[in-house]
Amino acid sequence: MNTSDQAYRVFEGLKDLLSFGPEDSRNLVELREILAPIIPEITSDFYEVLQAQAETAKFIEGRVEQLKKTHVAWFFDVLGGEYGRDFFDRQFKIGLTHVRISLPPQYVEGIMSFIRFSSVSAINAKVEDSEKASQLASSLTKILDINLAVINLSYHENRLDKLTQVTGMKRALLENLILQG
Ligand code: HEM
Repeated sequence: MNTSDQAYRVFEGLKDLLSFGPEDSRNLVELREILAPIIPEITSDFYEVLQAQAETAKFIEGRVEQLKKTHVAWFFDVLGGEYGRDFFDRQFKIGLTHVRISLPPQYVEGIMSFIRFSSVSAINAKVEDSEKASQLASSLTKILDINLAVINLSYHENRLDKLTQVTGMKRALLENLILQG
């Protein structure tokens, strides 16, 4: 089993833990219609946040407009209704892309918090039936949190890989050391 297979098992386990199922998938597809007009706005807003601080601005300098398109496409993918292995693979790869550019993971976490909060506010503003709004927001927060966990797993796996290479220690031994101290 390779490292992404292990991470995939964690992803499936998280879906089970949160009882993420077909109803959530349907809710997310429904949300695609509801949120479509404001996804570019949420994305632009988080780009303003990223541009406001030097530590984050440096990662996006000179390619903001192109990256906004990339991040908008990601949001639509999250509302695509399919949450199996292909979805996992795409999210894991996104994590590795951020690892490759040495983006500290806390910035991804911070931006996910921004996206979660902005999206839930938009749902509450657009969906009159509060029970329905709450169900839609629940499905969205579940998938965003699962998504964030997958991105974090990419960072985790990458760090273990580097430690294995640098120390020459077997991966299973390193994992045991981390677990048992
Ligand atoms: C919820 C958080 C985030 C998500 C879901 C996300 C999603 C993505 C996706 C889908 C890609 C394209 C990946 C690929 O081509 O394989 C990407 C690339 C990129 N993201 Fe993000 N991103 C997030 C946060 C951030 C933050 C906080 C920054 C900067 C501070 C950032 C900067 C970049 C850059 C610079 C690239 C292009 C990397 C390259 O190929 O050179 N992202 N992101």
